[in-house]
Amino acid sequence: MPETPSSLHVSPHPLVAHKLALLRDKHTEPKQFRELVRELTWLLGYEAMADLTLQPSRIETPLEPMDAQRLEPRVGLIPILRAGLGMVDAMLELLPTAEVWHIGLYRDERTLKPVEYYNKLPDAATVQVCLILDPMLATGGSSAATVDILKHWGAARVKQLSLIAAPEGVRTLSSTHPDVDIHVAALDSHLNERGYIVPGLGDAGDRQFGTFAGPASEPGHGPDPHTAEVVRNLQRDLRNE
Ligand code: PRP
Ligand code: URA
Repeated sequence: MPETPSSLHVSPHPLVAHKLALLRDKHTEPKQFRELVRELTWLLGYEAMADLTLQPSRIETPLEPMDAQRLEPRVGLIPILRAGLGMVDAMLELLPTAEVWHIGLYRDERTLKPVEYYNKLPDAATVQVCLILDPMLATGGSSAATVDILKHWGAARVKQLSLIAAPEGVRTLSSTHPDVDIHVAALDSHLNERGYIVPGLGDAGDRQFGTFAGPASEPGHGPDPHTAEVVRNLQRDLRNE
């Protein structure tokens, strides 16, 4: 049994477990699904921000002056398009001054490799802490590629916030970027032969946005030999670590 890396934080909160059960349920419709993504992000985001540094700030209450504290780092929210979009508003409620920098990646259905299609980051980093928002950490390819982009940009600290992770994805991310904290609501069992998290929740983008295009895009669609081989290799790496 592979060891869980110290960078992985699975929320122990009962509200998180309850809301995640509703989210996973196949009968949950897109409207409620979006509400649950938002609520879970709020709870996980609160936990993920627990170690942000503070700086002294002199303020005056109606009674007297006092030494208070304010957040020190500038924080950037990095939603991975498109499924990460549903997590942005909740994080902006917690951190109204955060900057939002979108990264567009989709996963090639056959190779499971991330394909970048949108990135408008300016030349130099404008924030110190980056929080990647993406509901699913499956093979970890999308996340590891995003961390590469953000470190190259100059971000001093990167965290990943996902709703569900697969062991294969945690291994990919924690071995390529051991300094990146991974905050999730659950660590699931494994990836199936199409790279979907089991038991998971299906396709997080489709379930949020109501885009059910038919059997070819569904998690249960039959195996593709190439994709199945990609997943087997990830699982071999995981067993041998
Ligand atoms: C999903 C998900 C992640 C990625 C995870 O996006 O939102 O970005 O897959 O998979 P990985 O860990 O194996 O890289 P998808 O490619 O389905 O794009 P979408 O958000 O546009 O639906
Ligand atoms: N993307 C999803 O939306 N779901 C998975 O299970 C894996 C990748």
